[in-house]
Amino acid sequence: PLVTLAEVLREADTGGYAVGAFNCNNMEIVQAIINAAVTAEAPVIIQASQGAIKYAGLEYITSLVRTAASQAPVPVVLHLDHGTDFEQVLRCLRAGFTSVMIDGSKYPLEENIALTRKVVEIAHAMGASVEGELGRIGGTEEQIKVSEREATMTDPEEAQRFARETGVDALAVAIGTAHGRYHGTPRLDFERLATIDRLVPTPIVLHGSSGVPDDDIRRAVELGVRKINIDTDIRIAFIEATRTALDANPDEIDPRKVLGPARDAASKVISHKMQVFGCAGRV
Ligand code: G3H
Ligand code: 13P
Ligand code: ZN
Ligand code: NA
Repeated sequence: PLVTLAEVLREADTGGYAVGAFNCNNMEIVQAIINAAVTAEAPVIIQASQGAIKYAGLEYITSLVRTAASQAPVPVVLHLDHGTDFEQVLRCLRAGFTSVMIDGSKYPLEENIALTRKVVEIAHAMGASVEGELGRIGGTEEQIKVSEREATMTDPEEAQRFARETGVDALAVAIGTAHGRYHGTPRLDFERLATIDRLVPTPIVLHGSSGVPDDDIRRAVELGVRKINIDTDIRIAFIEATRTALDANPDEIDPRKVLGPARDAASKVISHKMQVFGCAGRV
């Protein structure tokens, strides 16, 4: 069934594990995610970015995930990833999303708090959850110096204030991860994470988690991360399997023969993540 983010994160907090949040933009990826969750007996967050919604259409994304959730014996959250447009956030809530992210991280603290609090008021009134972001989680393409890297990271005391004043159900923090493929190995600031977790009772979200070594993920979960976002690793598995299928049979014209293996490959990656996050076997 479809549930809110707050519900699955409450359980995760009690159990000391993280719930996987996987990005989708088509039917095969939604199926890959739900198949992995059902097999692993794991709660799951299926999320769509504004770009994914633009690509597939809000109605299609909503229908796909609703269908997946209605047939699954595991809790499923339908979540907007990196909502930056207030109107888009409202459209998602009206369409039946059970959770939205309002990403006001590009604004000064006061403005981020004001925008996020406004979304929390509306979403909570509609029975949905909200994720906010503090600190800048960039992309791996951005070349930044160590001092600049520090400056983009989440300040623990600001995080405490942000969580208290907005009332968000989950807080995304910048502790050294980045969106997309890493060049080299990412370095996470675990000390910062520990301080944030000590000051902030709100469940913490780790973005840019593709390509982060499993042991670092486990450590982050031990230090209080409760939602882990994965997109790039799904894309890599999906496209590599597509390429392999086409290379093996360049004359193939049946999409099912190409996208079927891609769906399976994505599901395998997602299953592995669920084991690492500790959410497998929790339903
Ligand atoms: O955080 C970004 C997600 O990976 C979604 O990316 O905006 O290309 O859909 P996208
Ligand atoms: P990756 O693509 O690096 O896994 O990041 C996903 C993410 O943070 C989505 O919000
Ligand atoms: Zn993200
Ligand atoms: Na990444």
